[in-house]
Amino acid sequence: MSLVIAVDGPAASGKGTIAARLAAEYGLPHLDTGLLYRAVGVGVLDAGGSLDDEAVAESVARALDASHLSDTERLTSGDAGEAASRVAGHTGVRAALLEFQRAFAAQPGGAVLDGRDIGTVIAPDAPAKLFVTATPEVRAMRRWKQLTGRGATIAFEEMLADIVKRDERDAGRGAAPMVQAADAVLLDTTDMGIEAAFDAARRIVEAAR
Ligand code: C5P
Repeated sequence: MSLVIAVDGPAASGKGTIAARLAAEYGLPHLDTGLLYRAVGVGVLDAGGSLDDEAVAESVARALDASHLSDTERLTSGDAGEAASRVAGHTGVRAALLEFQRAFAAQPGGAVLDGRDIGTVIAPDAPAKLFVTATPEVRAMRRWKQLTGRGATIAFEEMLADIVKRDERDAGRGAAPMVQAADAVLLDTTDMGIEAAFDAARRIVEAAR
């Protein structure tokens, strides 16, 4: 039986960790789709292009060898996240990345994908859909601890402002905005540690499959 699990939600909600743990639990391949947009954003910056230039961003997206993406420090930096959310608003970029994501979701046996539009656009027929969220303050604190733990110097207030700005941009854009799918189950991780969040996620998947 094929099990496709769609995990959407805002930055630092815990969706990436939950998706990775679910993939391990069910023995499924996992795709962090944010990495695709991050790679496009970083690619545009490296080419000296403007993040607002849709044609440049789309050509970077079309040339991306998505099968070789890995979770590097460069791609997971705050700047890459910001660049990702700017190129993610271009319809041409989203179209260029669509087929790879759909093919990933269509693998025999299934897959776990996490992002912003998995349950709505990439895998609307997925039997198990989660929308993982937490308050902006808690998400900013998680991201702040992660970045400062790596030696970055950033003020918490700045982190919070970045998170709020990114939420607004992702939820407010015309192309595949971040929104909870009608049939997705909401998982609020504000007061949960990762173990409790994973347990809750697994129960949601068990109830859906
Ligand atoms: O999840 P992550 O923070 O890595 O995503 C970076 C950015 O990529 C998001 O802020 C969002 O704008 C974009 N993104 C998207 N659709 C996805 C995954 C990520 O638009 N499926």
